[in-house]
Amino acid sequence: MKDLKDYVRSIPDFPEPGIIFRDITSILQSKEGLKLAIDKMQELLKDVDFDLIVGPESRGFIFGVPIAYNMNKAFIPVRKKGKLPCETVSIDYELEYGKASIEVHKDAIKPGQKVVIIDDLIATGGTIEAITKLVEMLGGEVVKIIFLIELKGLKGRERLAGFDVDAVIQYD
Ligand code: PRP
Ligand code: ADE
Repeated sequence: MKDLKDYVRSIPDFPEPGIIFRDITSILQSKEGLKLAIDKMQELLKDVDFDLIVGPESRGFIFGVPIAYNMNKAFIPVRKKGKLPCETVSIDYELEYGKASIEVHKDAIKPGQKVVIIDDLIATGGTIEAITKLVEMLGGEVVKIIFLIELKGLKGRERLAGFDVDAVIQYD
């Protein structure tokens, strides 16, 4: 059987010189790769007590929704600014390449709810650090953070110190 890493395509100098882009579309293109990715991420949650899953646009949706569905939980989308129609809380953050602003509906997370955050990849950790702040602004408690891919060299985990963080595969 193929390893999950065998399904990840690496593209040098995308979207900018010096970045090695770890492409997850090559996982999704394979029914075996897609199943392996969801199963391995879900396995990391088997002993976790939580109320809902939060994931960022757009790649966080791809992995967060099937896991929420499989585990009979709700999914809360975090979107780039200006996309959500109701009252939101928002935050600015920096990416490996560029800046962004994300937001979540104010009524999506209730005080005291236990939240799992899911995304495809951690690079600098900026996106998920920003999401932990949004969750906490609404009174939620982040009980676990799961990635499919961790780019260790960027030390994103250090920005998430204090949280329970797991990733299925790592690159140096
Ligand atoms: C990518 C990726 C993560 C984030 C990781 O999303 O899916 O969410 O960057 O980088 P960080 O750890 O440095 O924050 P991106 O904002 O490129 O949006 P996309 O999912 O729509 O491609
Ligand atoms: N998001 C941020 N950095 C990335 C990278 N190197 N590969 C894929 N997605 C990313």
